Amino acid sequence: MIDTLNIQVNKTSHSNIGKLDFNNIQFGKQYSDHLFVAKYEGGTWKDVLIEPYEDLRISPASPALHYGISIFEGLKAYKNDKGEILVFRPDKNLERLNISAERMCMPLISEQLYFEGLNTLLDLDRDWVPSTPGTSLYIRPFLISDDDFIGIKPSEDFRFLIITCPVGAYYSKPVKVKIETHYTRAAEGGSGYCKTGCNYGPAIYPAKLAQKDGYDQLLWTDGKEHKYVEESGTMNVMFIMDGKLVTPSLGDSILNGITRDSVLTLARDWGMEVEERRVAVDEIIAAAREGRLQEVFGAGTAATIAQIESIGHEGTDYSLPPVEGREFSNKVLKTLDDIKYGRIEDKFDWIHKI
Ligand code: COI
Repeated sequence: MIDTLNIQVNKTSHSNIGKLDFNNIQFGKQYSDHLFVAKYEGGTWKDVLIEPYEDLRISPASPALHYGISIFEGLKAYKNDKGEILVFRPDKNLERLNISAERMCMPLISEQLYFEGLNTLLDLDRDWVPSTPGTSLYIRPFLISDDDFIGIKPSEDFRFLIITCPVGAYYSKPVKVKIETHYTRAAEGGSGYCKTGCNYGPAIYPAKLAQKDGYDQLLWTDGKEHKYVEESGTMNVMFIMDGKLVTPSLGDSILNGITRDSVLTLARDWGMEVEERRVAVDEIIAAAREGRLQEVFGAGTAATIAQIESIGHEGTDYSLPPVEGREFSNKVLKTLDDIKYGRIEDKFDWIHKI
């Protein structure tokens, strides 16, 4: 390994930052001035660059476009009171990116390529990290096939990129979910545990059908029997039932969420009883009916801690207790924010300072 990469930095001549309304930031609408890009050709990474953010040139025959040979990550950077930039658990995203890369026959990304790219990009675009409450800089690393071959085989050429965008809340209010018992997001032996485009695209249609019926998101169930809860559209799902934190255990069909892991770590640290196991739909509905379902929320990078207001199942909507009284999820959201914005001690070594 070489000591430092030779990243060529081509700065933009006209920043777009003046067009950003820092008091009204929406999720994923405006992108920072620069992107990081590296090419993989002949079994090696080359042309490691920071470039002005602009449209990509890609072969119309690229398997990224035809077969979804494309993986991605999502992480966030925050600005603390001193104006320093704090990135939340970027090492975990690299770990997961490489798990996705293996499943999709793509090359692994080294720590050096990832961290030097990330550090250089965030340092250059540090003014894009917002500091208004509830905002952050969303970071989207992604790896795509750069072949120009339309047959089906492992690709040979790739491009690794990082783009960033200032974001506010992904969900602006508590969400209504519907338990999906017909469509399938992922199955055993599939790629549900990866962050690959082909897991997300086909999930849009069933979600759109549910939205027509007044729901915001789906609560996916297992692909075999539709009896067990798996995850929600953009996040893992968690329940406080009978005083315990219960969440579906990981497997082939569930994303190993970094917010999920952070919530479980904090809960265990607080001495809370945690169960990672199969969670039956019937069990959730019975608990909701009997008033034992105290809190339900989603956990994800984009979504953070997203309160779930009601659960729809087979035509009945089960209302859940009011969000204001939800002790655990409100505390975990505040604690995670306090760590992310550098307001309390980083006890678990989760923060990477730029
Ligand atoms: C994230 O939470 O980072 C995601 O990737 C979810 C979604 C925006 C696809």
